[in-house]
Amino acid sequence: MHTDTFLVHSGRETADAVQAINPPLVRASTVVFKSLADYKHAHHQTVFDAPRYGRSGTSTTFELQRAMAAFAGAQSCLATSSGLSAIVAVLSAHAGPGRHLLLSAGVYGPTRIFCDKELAPLGTIVEYFPDGADITPYLRDNTTLVYVETPASLTMEMLDVRALCAAARARNVPVAADSTWGTPVFFDAHALGVQISIHSATKFINGHSDLMLGLMTGSLDDLAALRAYCDRSGAHAAPDVCWLALRGLRTLSVRLQRHQQTAMSIAQWLQEQPKVKRVMYPALPSDPGHALWKGQFSGAAGPFSFELVPCSESAFAAFMDALRLFSLGTSWGGYESLVLPAVPYHLRTLDVLPDEGRLVRLHVGLEDAGDLREDLDQALRRL
Ligand SMILES: Cc1ncc(COP(=O)(O)O)c(C=O)c1O
Repeated sequence: MHTDTFLVHSGRETADAVQAINPPLVRASTVVFKSLADYKHAHHQTVFDAPRYGRSGTSTTFELQRAMAAFAGAQSCLATSSGLSAIVAVLSAHAGPGRHLLLSAGVYGPTRIFCDKELAPLGTIVEYFPDGADITPYLRDNTTLVYVETPASLTMEMLDVRALCAAARARNVPVAADSTWGTPVFFDAHALGVQISIHSATKFINGHSDLMLGLMTGSLDDLAALRAYCDRSGAHAAPDVCWLALRGLRTLSVRLQRHQQTAMSIAQWLQEQPKVKRVMYPALPSDPGHALWKGQFSGAAGPFSFELVPCSESAFAAFMDALRLFSLGTSWGGYESLVLPAVPYHLRTLDVLPDEGRLVRLHVGLEDAGDLREDLDQALRRL
């Protein structure tokens, strides 16, 4: 089945029982069993895969997890309360005193903060490798995980995921990737060699800016340690949220195609604007990461960044405040366009920031491309 067909028809296994097109929303804290034998059986099943207690999910959770696992080409999927809680589960399951975690430098700011402020003080050795580096010299005997994100948050640098997975595999080290930007529609993380793929389903998978959800996909073996971590730490996704995310999944590939088309036209237009110093979008042929993007992604999502020419804070505020269709707010992946003054936390470890102009992150939504261009145009004239 092609992706579009798969997304429409998957995740509906429990719908027949209620004679509906959509699976039922099952909310529960208590799960009941017909016999002691059934109760014992449930407690011998893999946690988060069968009804046991509300925290380990209901049929609604399992529908989403099964659909997402199959969509990502993985054996298993685990849902949790947010993208960040999924990231925390993956990192925590591989952390510990004396263990070495190797991360790409451009990871999402809160990922870095969790490593530096929670894991490192308890004895995990946290190290960041620069974009484009061969990771082989960074791998140590005690490296337990390589963790990457591509494109990098805010600054959009691309990584050679295929090459770094091969290097990690040669040393028997698993690779986890934050695949939120590409989603399985554009980024087949497992085919590139990634063992654990992480998604903030808060973004494109749900697509309507009204919930928080994290999803992790991989083999049962590769997810075993983080499944145990989620079980012990009470990490859990609410059935209501899983039901909505399953609804979002139906239209994911259609939405992404439109996000891509409009984002590309806006990025090309921005490149020609005199007040824009550079546009960071790997789908642009001029982008330094274009070849890597082309070799690993089948499309480009809606968020990207651009750098303005250097300007005063008040001129920058005039630009930001003049925008009407791009709302000022954190997040991305929803139907609506967003703008954010981007602070690349990962670059703060450098003495000198490469950008002297202000960095702006856009999420290009599903509005008309011409309307969005006009909005940016009138705001740039205020700069
Ligand atoms: C790349 C990336 N990963 C993970 C997250 C965290 O996801 P959530 O907001 O669902 O916790 C975000 C949030 O912005 C993100 O941009």
